[in-house]
Formats: sequence, C-alpha cells, structure tokens
Amino acid sequence: MSEGFIRFVRELYGEPDAPIPLHAPVMGNLEKKRVNEAIDSTFVSSVGAFVTQFEHEVARFVGAKYAVATVNGTAALHAALRVAGVQPGDLVLTQSLSFIATCNAIHYCGAEPVFVDVEEATLGLDPVALRVWLEQHAEIRADGGTYDRASGRRIRACVPMHTLGHPVRIQSIVAVCDEFGLVVIEDAAESLGSFVGARHTGTFGRLGVFSFNGNKVITTGGGGMIVTDDEALAVRVKHLTTTAKKPHLWAFEHDEVGFNYRLPNLNAAFGVAQMARLPGLLTSKRAVAEAYQQWCGEAGWDFVVEPQGVNHGARSNYWLNALRLADEGARDAFLAATNHAGVMTRPLWTPMHRLPMYAQCPRGALPITERLAVTVVNIPSSARGDGLA
Ligand SMILES: Cc1ncc(COP(=O)(O)O)c(C=O)c1O
Repeated sequence: MSEGFIRFVRELYGEPDAPIPLHAPVMGNLEKKRVNEAIDSTFVSSVGAFVTQFEHEVARFVGAKYAVATVNGTAALHAALRVAGVQPGDLVLTQSLSFIATCNAIHYCGAEPVFVDVEEATLGLDPVALRVWLEQHAEIRADGGTYDRASGRRIRACVPMHTLGHPVRIQSIVAVCDEFGLVVIEDAAESLGSFVGARHTGTFGRLGVFSFNGNKVITTGGGGMIVTDDEALAVRVKHLTTTAKKPHLWAFEHDEVGFNYRLPNLNAAFGVAQMARLPGLLTSKRAVAEAYQQWCGEAGWDFVVEPQGVNHGARSNYWLNALRLADEGARDAFLAATNHAGVMTRPLWTPMHRLPMYAQCPRGALPITERLAVTVVNIPSSARGDGLA
C-alpha cells in the first residue's frame, strides 16, 4: 500500500534512488557571503550588526514591534516564560502533544505543566478543552490571581503550540486566557510564515517564540527569537538573555542571575541570508503541500490540510506535511515501509504525559492527543529550492 506513496515522493523530489530526508535546509552562496562578512567584521559572537539586522527583519516579517534573538528556541521559550512572570510552583497550561522543549522550558522555571487536549483539525491546543479545565479547576481570588482550587497553586500562563506550522485557534485561546487572567506565550517554533488572517502566529500572545533549528523553515544552524509588542518585556528579555549585564562601556556588573542566551553574530548572518529566501521557501513548501493534497485525494489518503474550516483565515507554512492513518498498526507498517525504502517519515512526538518526567503532571482528558499520537505521521517536506543562489 505504501509503494504508491514512495513512488510519488521520489517523483516529487526528483530522487529515484537517494534517501529523501524529512526536512533539509536550503542554503548556498548567499549564506556563505553573509557569514564571511561576519568573519571579516571580527564580530562573531553575541554582539554584532547581523544580530540587530536579523532581529529587525524577523520583527518586520511577523509584524511585531520587538524581536530578541537567542541561541535556540528552547532558550527563547525559557526566557519568555520567565519575563512573563512564571515562577517556581506555578502551573502553566499547555498541550501534551508537542516537542519536549515546550514542557522543559516550563520545568526550567520551576513551574509544572498542566496538559489540555488538542483539536483534531488544528492538532494544537483546544480552546474548548482549555475552558473546561479552567472552569473545573480554577478560581480567581481577591488578589486578582488565578489559582488551582485543589492545590492552591497559581495558574500563571498558557503556552499553545502551532503544531507542524498549522495555526491553533489562537484568538479563542487568548479570549479564554484573558477571562482567567492568564498570560499567553505562543510556541510558534514551527510556524514562521503561518498566519491567521493578516496576523502572523506568535503575535497574538503577550510573547511569541520561534526556532531556527536546522530542521525549520529557515535556519541559523541553531537559533531562536522572542517577539513581543510590549517594550518593557522586550527590554527585560534582552537583559535576561544577556547575562543580566548592566549596559556600560567597560564595567561588568550584573543585577540578577541571567542567562547567556544571545544568538552569535555568525548565526545571525546566516539567518539574514535565510530571511531573503523565506518568501520563496514558503511558496515552494505550499506547492509541495498542494501536490501531496492532490495525490492523497486521488489515492484515498488522509492528508492534514491547514485548518481553515475551524480556524477562519488560517494559513499554514506547511512546515512538516502529515498524513492521518487508520490506526497504530497501519501507522507502524507505513513507517517501516517508507523508512526501509529510504523515504524518511516519522511519528508525532510521544505525548508529554507518557514520558516519565511529566507523567505525574495534572491533566484534563486527552483522547484526541492519544489518538493523533499513534495515527499521524510526518512525511518529507523540504522546499524544492527557492530560486536564489
Ligand atoms: C514546538 C517546538 N518548541 C520548541 C522548539 C525548540 O526549538 P530549538 O530546537 O531551537 O531549541 C521546537 C523545535 O525544535 C519545537 O518544535
């Protein structure tokens, strides 16, 4: 059954024999030129003109007022949660169906994740399940804070994730969180180039976070970005990620325990080149997704399309294309057949509540998470070039 699919992917990428990766970066002379410029400037570490330029370009592209570049997306999430006020002992609502960084960043703050179910159509946090959990467990006290009735712990924030690049119903999530006084930090690590209407994912919450890992739409080798419209938060997060060093021409003075989380100029130079490619990459990735959608429609496979039906105006970057298979057995047979044939596919993440470190965390009912985790597979999704050198 998978033979037709394997043939189609090999045709799509024009690769009759070679292994086909899940997501390969597109890079070339442009990156070499920029990185050489960074070397020639002697600024290769966390200060330099490319860092500032990369921050400006990402801010402009996503429509955020401020952007702060970090060493990776996990560090960006950690710093964003810290400046959002997440403290040891707090509870933070999120989805169990995510890459582990979302959960780890919450844990780094000394807080504990609370898992809420995802939606079938968006693969991301379900605003209805979010409301249900909050109505069952939360109370807003006289101090204005929201607390878990049973444990008395503060429920501080919510971290929805735009799974595989498909926008969650972020407006509904923000509305629920506003009602309960929770800060929203969007994990938009996978969704650079994904919008709801005219607004980019990552700009609906108080802060949004992107990743530029080598497997993302654009890469800096390793890198991340925090975006926000809140000037005070932007200043604070830049300070915290720069070892909390007080600005001074020569003196080294730090006013709190900060982090060495800033993106090196070398990586930012690479990122500036990649930003020039971004529009072309998005066009190419959409064409790949459309080809899959058409082939799947004809062959009777269930391709995961951007969730426009439930999320009006949602436009996905189609970071990783995905198929829904009938059950776990069909999924495993598909993974074995494709990977043995050199066409890389993989399952979604093991849900966080199934991992030993997070198995004891509070959670709502997770039926959709459980099902998607054993039936959805990712399929080769690299852009086929972008027209640049
Ligand atoms: C959903 C999600 N959150 C966070 C991250 C962390 O990003 P990084 O690998 O840059 O630390 C990633 C990807 O790697 C991710 O997919």
